[in-house]
Amino acid sequence: MTLDHIESRQYKLQSETVRKRLEDIKKRPILLKVDSLKKKFQDREGEIVALGNISFSVHQREFICVIGPSGCGKSTLIRIIAGLEKQTSGSILLDSKPIDSPSSDRGMVFQNYTLFPWLTIKKNIMFGLIMSKTDRQEANTKAMDWLELVGLSEFSDLYPHQLSGGMKQRVAIARALATRPRILLMDEPFGALDAQTRAQMQSYLLQIWESLDITIIFITHDLEEAIYLADRIFVLGSSSNQLQEIVEIPVSRPRKPDQFLSSEFLSTKKHLEDLINPEKRSTAKKISIKNGIVEKSSSLEG
Ligand SMILES: Nc1ncnc2c1ncn2[C@@H]1O[C@H](COP(=O)(O)OP(=O)(O)OP(=O)(O)O)[C@@H](O)[C@H]1O
Ligand SMILES: [Mg+2]
Repeated sequence: MTLDHIESRQYKLQSETVRKRLEDIKKRPILLKVDSLKKKFQDREGEIVALGNISFSVHQREFICVIGPSGCGKSTLIRIIAGLEKQTSGSILLDSKPIDSPSSDRGMVFQNYTLFPWLTIKKNIMFGLIMSKTDRQEANTKAMDWLELVGLSEFSDLYPHQLSGGMKQRVAIARALATRPRILLMDEPFGALDAQTRAQMQSYLLQIWESLDITIIFITHDLEEAIYLADRIFVLGSSSNQLQEIVEIPVSRPRKPDQFLSSEFLSTKKHLEDLINPEKRSTAKKISIKNGIVEKSSSLEG
């Protein structure tokens, strides 16, 4: 579908319910505060700026999506929040405490299935619990509770290779949530799934998020996925890897797949496309000026 006829500025028009909801989120306590964060890597050819000067706050129970072109620093950002990577400068506070190493207050789900292949899915979930000093019996009970929440109790004794991609990611989510983190960090978790499973997983993640007191930061390349899931989208830019814009999503909750065709959804998608592909936008402009009329352009395929 082309989005040429959509006016991107319309995404700023928020219904009263949406405006109120977004305002209420801003009144909640700040869970994560990132200030002037920079990350540089050194390789043989010199210095790489993985993250420019990034500052933002995330409120409790907020759902944030992060988008941006490949190499703009999305994974680096989430790895620093996870404590897997150290920033070059700037501060990052979770519940007002600096982050300097991984901890059970942050759960992670990656694109590549990261379950231990030699453990059953129940034992995969028990692993983190036992590592954080839960006794075996209790870990067993909790693992079964989490498997039930993700609808996989009857598969508890199977091994990861016996599961589909979507099921593996449900186990990965259960495992990340089992230690009751304050924040769930997800780096393209549904990137390897087929379109139908991916759509199911999105709805399913929203259900989990709504039923738990959890904040989520979710990286994706898929603009529709980001709009469907997020309260706000952080757009990282390709030039010097800065935070280009924070976009508030005007689509009401609870989200449903039929909202993909609503004018709020489409205008937000158009705005994000314009942000991520500024050249395409300027090409489209050039064509219309050259011909003196507004022509339909195929460069903004949706
Ligand atoms: N360990 C590392 N050593 C050197 N450079 C790195 C390292 N990790 C990341 N980079 C560089 O930092 C930049 C940001 O990488 P990052 O993986 O965060 O991007 P991304 O936005 O997640 O990309 P993608 O969408 O492809 O996953 C890239 O230029 C990358 O090559
Ligand atoms: Mg990445």
